Amino acid sequence: MDVVTLKIRRQDDPDGLAYWEKFEIPFESGMTVARALESIGELIECGDGSTLSPVAFEGLCGKGACGACTMIINGRVRLACATLIEELEDPVTLMPLGKFPVVRDLVINRDSMLASMGRCELWLDVDDYELRSGELFSQDGDGQNRFEGCIFCGACLEACPQYCDRSRYMGAFVFGNMASLNLSTAGRKTSEKRFLLSAARGGVADCAGVSNCDMVCPAGIELSSAIGEINRSAISSSMKNYFRA
Ligand code: SF4
Ligand code: FES
Repeated sequence: MDVVTLKIRRQDDPDGLAYWEKFEIPFESGMTVARALESIGELIECGDGSTLSPVAFEGLCGKGACGACTMIINGRVRLACATLIEELEDPVTLMPLGKFPVVRDLVINRDSMLASMGRCELWLDVDDYELRSGELFSQDGDGQNRFEGCIFCGACLEACPQYCDRSRYMGAFVFGNMASLNLSTAGRKTSEKRFLLSAARGGVADCAGVSNCDMVCPAGIELSSAIGEINRSAISSSMKNYFRA
């Protein structure tokens, strides 16, 4: 392969109309989708006579650790920095995630994820803990936490049919992070409150059990299992709360 064809769904601003644009770029061995996107900018900077504008996309770490470069590549949600061009069919079609507002081209706004984290109080009050003691993030048992490692990419939301305009479902990443937090010594102390919040409308009970999230999570988090654990705890906490009232 000498040339790669990228077919990109573009949008100039949040209120603009989407349109498709095609780019042909020289292929390099080991080229990732992120590298291919960068090379569009280089072609333009070289002044080859083209009037195309560079394609906006996010990519902070370049090694699958920040989630920023998540997009739809040939119809599947993937990380642009971890997807090799040679493993894709040509032309390579790129679209922004469809469940988030577009900021520009392939850049999306993930504020809804932050809002969901806030709804379930997914944080620790560090003022109450001595950071040097190692207690804050210490784990139970053998120290393994199969729910940790979320990179907040949004892939689980993109793939979930329950996460849509017609529903308030917060999505799998919330319950994966909750299960992870609850495995830490400090997180467990405040877990009861989060179980009750996860039982509210849009919470864990709205999961339809499709398990697409497990298939797309680039961090390999066992999201269905986390949802199952949080669901059982949410039911038990709600029952206790009901009988206490
Ligand atoms: S749980 Fe996995 S798929 Fe969902 S946001 Fe976190 S890393 Fe991405
Ligand atoms: S650039 Fe960070 S995950 Fe791709």
